[in-house]
Amino acid sequence: MTEPEPEAGLAIQTGALVSVAELTKTFIVSGGHRVVAVDAVGLDLAPASVTAVTGPAGAGKTTLLRLVGGLDRADSGVIVVDTEKVTALPPRALPGYRRRIGLVFERDLLVPELTVLDNVRALASPRSRLRGRGTATAERARELLAAVGLAGVEGLRSDRLPPADRQRAAIARALFNRPGLLIADEPTAALGSAASGEIIELIVRVRDEFGVTVLIATQDPEIAIHCDRVVRMHDGRVADDSAALT
Ligand SMILES: Nc1ncnc2c1ncn2[C@@H]1O[C@H](COP(=O)(O)OP(=O)(O)OP(=O)(O)O)[C@@H](O)[C@H]1O
Ligand SMILES: [Mg+2]
Repeated sequence: MTEPEPEAGLAIQTGALVSVAELTKTFIVSGGHRVVAVDAVGLDLAPASVTAVTGPAGAGKTTLLRLVGGLDRADSGVIVVDTEKVTALPPRALPGYRRRIGLVFERDLLVPELTVLDNVRALASPRSRLRGRGTATAERARELLAAVGLAGVEGLRSDRLPPADRQRAAIARALFNRPGLLIADEPTAALGSAASGEIIELIVRVRDEFGVTVLIATQDPEIAIHCDRVVRMHDGRVADDSAALT
């Protein structure tokens, strides 16, 4: 499968249209009990919208995001991202799918020994490096770092950055391959409240500038306030959807 090569320049991207229908995922836990982590969930995300999935611990937020992100397989139901039917992809196609979306987690997962710049371009295809396009990937990484407010620290080891800045770098890395969809699981849970506010503001700004569709799982009500839409989950189901009220 050929993949688009990242090019220098911050062209506007098109946010993905996401459609989830009757999505179900069950885990068998110790003692042979079945936990229906995601239970017949339906959810449509408009292009370039920012949606928060909230709900108590164990509600199924992470499981839902992992399914949409191609990190886990559903038992049944359908996920379509733009024209791609994610639930029908064979396992060997999932790594390629994951490279086309942006993933951000609670921990930044940067490689501490690498510079900030090399972390951001870590997802560049090996082909583009072999073809001597290292300059182009460095240029794109630099522009993304400037866009997330990290100009000037490109050459530092990533473990020299404070946690909020590492999360900024993780967001820049997630955007490297121009994803139409950015998925963030508790992106501020490891940060204090001031830093959390900065990160959610950055995520909304990234949507404004790049047009990316954003799906965030969070237990922080302050974050949900900044989002276009709040979907509350409980026991694997959608219990409340602010879009349904409008
Ligand atoms: N890999 C797994 N194996 C077994 N059970 C799992 C697994 N992942 C999730 N579960 C179970 O599925 C349910 C939903 O978990 P999930 O992590 O999706 O919830 P969450 O809403 O993200 O919770 P939190 O707010 O704590 O992050 C829980 O009962 C959890 O124990
Ligand atoms: Mg979770």
